[in-house]
Amino acid sequence: PTTPVVARTRAELVPARQALGDGDVAVVMTMGALHEGHARLIRTARQQAQHVIVSIFLNPLQFAPKEDLSKYPRTFDADMAICQEEGVDLVFAPTPDVVYPDGDPGVRIAAGPLGDVLEGQSRPGHFDGMLTVVAKLIHLTGGDRFYFGQKDAQQLLLIRRMVRDLDLPAGVVSVPTVREGDGLAMSSRNTYLSESDREVALCLSQALRAGAERAEEGPSAIRRAAREVLVHEPLALVDYLVLVHPETLEDVPEWYKGEALLAVAARVGTTRLIDNTPVLVG
Ligand code: PAJ
Repeated sequence: PTTPVVARTRAELVPARQALGDGDVAVVMTMGALHEGHARLIRTARQQAQHVIVSIFLNPLQFAPKEDLSKYPRTFDADMAICQEEGVDLVFAPTPDVVYPDGDPGVRIAAGPLGDVLEGQSRPGHFDGMLTVVAKLIHLTGGDRFYFGQKDAQQLLLIRRMVRDLDLPAGVVSVPTVREGDGLAMSSRNTYLSESDREVALCLSQALRAGAERAEEGPSAIRRAAREVLVHEPLALVDYLVLVHPETLEDVPEWYKGEALLAVAARVGTTRLIDNTPVLVG
């Protein structure tokens, strides 16, 4: 496969985007440190569109001052190798001053109430910063369809809401979570885990699986089974374990039947991990 074209500025992006020519354009947005989860998004995009653009941009706006922006893994050469392997046409890899030429933008997208719960509760402002860059990248790339992972379920839900609420001209496609052989959801942050952390981290996916196995018994059985797994791993500091409606993110009531989202967040060592699984309740 040929090397993707790399655009680092707006001035480079515009002609490179035009040079793709006719046909629909699929876009995969990333913060780099690409792994098999990202590769699956790119492969799905590749199968469904004539042209594929990948953006690699570590967005400072979605990190709080005390979060892991400065130590977030930066692996540009390896990322490019994956993009080439997967047949990406164009990589947009700007620096923060390209994306935010006037510094922190005064005007931002507000995620609203759905951005205040779960991840938003632990990471105030995170989803506003995420949606702001996603909106900008939708416009800058001029893509037709945008591919996001179910791994970040609340992010995906908020992007769908933004596209609807603001009538953005973008199709949103979701891709199922890619896992390691033992069940751990792939994440760029897994590189922070020590060998023993890595063992502890397994309890997240195990809890989700234990919950999902009780799907037909109803919400309290699902929650109980999942909680039981986490209780036996005191080294995982659980932030939340919830069974919620997939669109409202509100706890489903005991009589609920239908699609729900079983989601967990926990700190293992110094690393905050998230995972989730869809569950058909009842
Ligand atoms: P990042 O964490 O790099 O993830 C980029 C995309 O890959 C997201 O859509 C995410 O859901 C997806 N992804 C990550 N791990 C995955 C896995 N194990 N299986 C399937 N998909 C997975 O999410 C972001 O970057 C940023 O918030 C971004 C949307 C790029 C905006 O800055």
